[in-house]
Amino acid sequence: MSPTSRYPVPPGGIIGILGGGQLGRMLALAGANVGLKCHIYSDAADAPAFDVAAECTFGRYDDQRLLAAFARNVDAITFEFENVPSGTIEMLARERPTHPSALALAITQDRLVEKNFLSRIGVATTAYAALDASKSGHPEVNRNLLPAVLKTRRFGYDGKGQWTIRTIADLELVLPRLKNVPAILERWVDFAFECSVIAARGGDGIFAAYDPPENIHGEHILRSSRVPAPLTSAQSQEAKAIAARIAEGLDYVGVLAVEFFVTREGGLLVNEIAPRVHNSGHWTLEACLVSQFEQHLRAIAGWPLGYPARHSNAVMENLIGVEAEDWQTLARQTGALHLYGKREIRPGRKMGHVTRISPLSAPNE
Ligand SMILES: Nc1ncnc2c1ncn2[C@@H]1O[C@H](COP(=O)(O)OP(=O)(O)O)[C@@H](O)[C@H]1O
Ligand SMILES: [Mg+2]
Repeated sequence: MSPTSRYPVPPGGIIGILGGGQLGRMLALAGANVGLKCHIYSDAADAPAFDVAAECTFGRYDDQRLLAAFARNVDAITFEFENVPSGTIEMLARERPTHPSALALAITQDRLVEKNFLSRIGVATTAYAALDASKSGHPEVNRNLLPAVLKTRRFGYDGKGQWTIRTIADLELVLPRLKNVPAILERWVDFAFECSVIAARGGDGIFAAYDPPENIHGEHILRSSRVPAPLTSAQSQEAKAIAARIAEGLDYVGVLAVEFFVTREGGLLVNEIAPRVHNSGHWTLEACLVSQFEQHLRAIAGWPLGYPARHSNAVMENLIGVEAEDWQTLARQTGALHLYGKREIRPGRKMGHVTRISPLSAPNE
């Protein structure tokens, strides 16, 4: 156990990661490639990341004593999911270099606070209004937003905690089901397609973005990501510039993902920010020299960022629920097969993914 943190974290040093899902697992694997050991802290006894981590702690995200012992055991700390209590990150940051910050986490884990932040820094989003069951907002404001999506402000993922609202009557039906959970009403965007920017910002303020993939969702769950997206190079540069402004505004250190709607007129609206590595960046494992996972570890360990250029085009497809049962067929095909080692297949559960690469194409003009 190191009594104090070594920073920049040298090879052989230990990165503490809160969360033990597939993102934590791929972070730990990427760490091993560059000589960094990962210590996974998860509240799930069978966390997929435990299988590949140098050290593991099984405990609650608010267990102060266990968290303090974990902090003493590592050189720097990060997280792989956004529902870690921001107070926990605040506490850990007093012990060890911890990134992204508690403030960046607090902003991005609440959809309303996040959208207000985006408006404040001049980044366009769809129109929205705060909503909760006790005071259902101004009826005229609500009407102007229809058709809309009602989302809980916190703890939603893969479309959980979201309802499509076409009429005020729909809204009145859904509101009681919210049971006073604070929510946000967002105008429906009739987008041409969705894309995202996965980017990193180092402690020195240097910013590096990967090319934006086009993302296809089914039932609100990411099905596939493809690079290049059908964006012009001007749109692609604009998307990266918006991600840079967000990273700057959050004084961010680490990898973040910015999800966009591309409108039929070619405009970019930010849908949401994920303060972590992201499913739509998994293709960087095969199509870039430095993956999003290694890039995140480099940023939070105080290392120079890696070069984010692509050497290939790529298509990543998620294996959701029973799709992973086809592993033998998939293993015979030419894609890179990733399985997350989850013991139980459940509908809607991300079990793995496949990435296929092809030679680089000329950029869109
Ligand atoms: N305002 C909206 N207009 C149109 N589609 C939306 C809107 N909000 C969400 N969606 C669709 O639902 C998906 C998931 O919503 P998102 O807000 O990103 O939540 P999650 O946290 O579950 O990823 C989006 O990627 C998009 O396909
Ligand atoms: Mg999303």
